Amino acid sequence: MRTWTGLIDSDYRPWLPVTDRTPVVSLNEGGTPLLRSAHLSAITGCDVWLKVEGANPTGSFKDRGMTVAISRAAEAGARLVICASTGNTSASAAAYAARAGLAAAVLVPRGYVAPGKLAQAVRYGARIVEIDGGFDDCLRAARDLAARHPVALVNSVGNELRLAGQRTVAYEIADALGRAPDLHCLPVGNGGNITATWQGYQAYAAAGRTTGSPRMWGFQAAGAAPLVHGAPVPAPETAATAIRVGHPATWDGALAARDESGGIIGAVTDEQIFAAYHDLAARDGVYAEPASAAGVAGLLDRHARGLLEPGRLVVVTLTGNGLKDGDAALRDAPAALRSSAAPADVARVLDLAAVTA
Ligand code: F0G
Repeated sequence: MRTWTGLIDSDYRPWLPVTDRTPVVSLNEGGTPLLRSAHLSAITGCDVWLKVEGANPTGSFKDRGMTVAISRAAEAGARLVICASTGNTSASAAAYAARAGLAAAVLVPRGYVAPGKLAQAVRYGARIVEIDGGFDDCLRAARDLAARHPVALVNSVGNELRLAGQRTVAYEIADALGRAPDLHCLPVGNGGNITATWQGYQAYAAAGRTTGSPRMWGFQAAGAAPLVHGAPVPAPETAATAIRVGHPATWDGALAARDESGGIIGAVTDEQIFAAYHDLAARDGVYAEPASAAGVAGLLDRHARGLLEPGRLVVVTLTGNGLKDGDAALRDAPAALRSSAAPADVARVLDLAAVTA
């Protein structure tokens, strides 16, 4: 059996902007599970598959783009990489920078980053600057610094290399299913991932690897849904902090993905997001972070409103790992699931006699 050696050293290498001179900086990202959801398939009457991007080395899809961006930054002789982030990009940038022996600085919104993501950046040795403001303020500051100083910006907006890496998710899905799905659902924040995923499907179709491309259904949190309203949201709010973005940098790309694919970008409430987040773990055994569940929440919302035709082949990207945000998991833990007891009392507390009768 051939072991998986990361995206750049995989069969996808010809699809990536690297050359023989590019030093490969990899943590064996990609090759993530594509799992069928019996639960979601039964509800919707579709064939629903989950692309579990939380299985990447730093726990999110960001690693696909980061292996390319940091490899090329190392090739170009960069010393310091910088990014703005709601948490996942910063964790990924910090990890790949550490592996390449580069310094990393990450700009994050103070008070709105899941603790696990900050912990990652700390452990990978990045300089963390917490900004009083949102992601959009962080991104403006990072772009400004990169324009005035010789540092490598690894946000997807300043860095097409990131999107090229993120396209690989579409290649993996098409190769695993033997065709492109009919429909691809995913969360949308800054707009990079829907853009890259769509570009990936298109590139595969253009090369004759698939015969069609899916409609792209992107979902933003209702309190942070600028692409749905068609205007920036000055003070975005959602408990799904990963997608708390008011002015997406890849605005045009996201709308192009929507329109060229005949898809939609819709809004889902935090309540819908957290319900999907809970069910993914409790029904499918997949613990994804809250923002990751927006694609599932959107799929179910459209189904409930009669806007999803049954019988379709559907893929939903689960963008990040639930372990990053233990606080969110415990905050609304159903009381019935937690109790305390003396050791001798456990059987009674669990009502084992009744449960196993
Ligand atoms: N899901 C998760 C878990 C994310 O971290 C992000 C974006 C998205 C979805 C949305 O993807 O921005 O390409 O539309 N996180 C960025 C970050 C903003 O800084 O980690 P997008």
